[in-house]
Amino acid sequence: MVQIPKPEYARRRKALMAEMVPNSIAILPAAAVALRNRDVEHPYRQDSDFQYLSGFGEPEAVMALIPGREHGEYVLFCRERDPLRELWDGLRAGQEGAIGDFGADDAFPISDIDDILPGLIEGRDRVYTAMGSHPEFDRHLMEWVNQIRSKANLGAQPPKEFVALDHLLHDLRLYKSTAEIKVMREAAAISARAHTRAMQAARAGLYEYSLEAELDYEFRRGGARLPAYGSIVAAGRNTCILHYQDNNALLRDGDLVLIDAGCEIDCYASDITRTFPVNGVFSPEQRAIYEIVLQAQEAAFAEIAPGKHWNLAHEATVKVITAGLVRLGLLEGDVDTLIAAEAHRGFYMHRAGHWLGLDVHDVGEYKVGGEWRVLEPGMALTVEPGIYISPQNEQVAKKWRGIGVRIEDDVVVTRTGCEVLTSGVPKAIDDIEALMAASRAVNP
Ligand code: GLY
Ligand code: MN
Ligand code: MN
Repeated sequence: MVQIPKPEYARRRKALMAEMVPNSIAILPAAAVALRNRDVEHPYRQDSDFQYLSGFGEPEAVMALIPGREHGEYVLFCRERDPLRELWDGLRAGQEGAIGDFGADDAFPISDIDDILPGLIEGRDRVYTAMGSHPEFDRHLMEWVNQIRSKANLGAQPPKEFVALDHLLHDLRLYKSTAEIKVMREAAAISARAHTRAMQAARAGLYEYSLEAELDYEFRRGGARLPAYGSIVAAGRNTCILHYQDNNALLRDGDLVLIDAGCEIDCYASDITRTFPVNGVFSPEQRAIYEIVLQAQEAAFAEIAPGKHWNLAHEATVKVITAGLVRLGLLEGDVDTLIAAEAHRGFYMHRAGHWLGLDVHDVGEYKVGGEWRVLEPGMALTVEPGIYISPQNEQVAKKWRGIGVRIEDDVVVTRTGCEVLTSGVPKAIDDIEALMAASRAVNP
């Protein structure tokens, strides 16, 4: 199983602490367990910031990073070992495991946090936290601070500043290491196999969920515990619903199906979209729209390289899509004037991509000092232009209505351009049609 090697977590903590001001503390909570219904829980997924700095996958944990602390800079509060609970719910690292297996300098039972954490905060000038992201935890933090304030007459010094941790931490997360790229390649390869399998399985008369089952099969077979987000399997006019989730409609001869799905490996996301005909052969209208989207994506790839700013890829897709829609008569007018008026937005209403990493819509600023961010090696992003012609759009000929196409791949910026992580799944029309024909030849 491809995983982030343990020493990398220590390097990340060190990198963060090097950015913190002297005499400060960073405090992060693990994700809370989310109830699904009554006493059934959602599958547990660690908070991405917590995961990034610890690799510790348990709930009910809090980490404190205290640069320069004599008795250890990394303090982890976590659940105690408990034979009875472990019999029911699974093994726990406990404090010994927190130190031995996860590199904590000091570890305490989470049940003792009210007694211990205020003492670690006391006397520090600055507290870094993810303010606002965990309301329950924020409330506890204020209680701990008030506990210190209540002892001010005894000389206790409450912290002077609270600073959002996001800026420092999310900038670190934006630059992917060699190990992270390796994990992301693995997630991408599994997802590519899943999309390929779904294409091969598509037949009129099946349902959207039939193809979702093919995706899930490859995800789990590849070792992924969960999809990185709710899979979108949208056929026919559902292709025009950007975040479609029902996945229960019939696949009909002559319709397109759009699948946007990706698995998660060691908490790293992949995010692929492919659009293909249910019957294996694109109609002339589907082909015309598809070719524009594919050309837009290729134009975007050419704008992803160190030194190019974030928005150039998006601008490239807008140009190709606007010109293409004019060529087909779906937009009328001068291409440059239409681009200036953002006329594409009736057909292409999202951006060409987003950062990708531990979160599918990953953290990191898109603008710095009011200017679009300049790309640098190690940044990972998606490239996902689309055209969606609403079934209700009466301004276009009927033959176009209800066609939705998106093509999405994951890339990492390299020293000279970008590496496409998701090229394992076909996207040229000829390649898709050939793959689908071959699968029908074997299994009509
Ligand atoms: N799957 C969500 C997205 O493509 O951004
Ligand atoms: Mn995406
Ligand atoms: Mn997607």
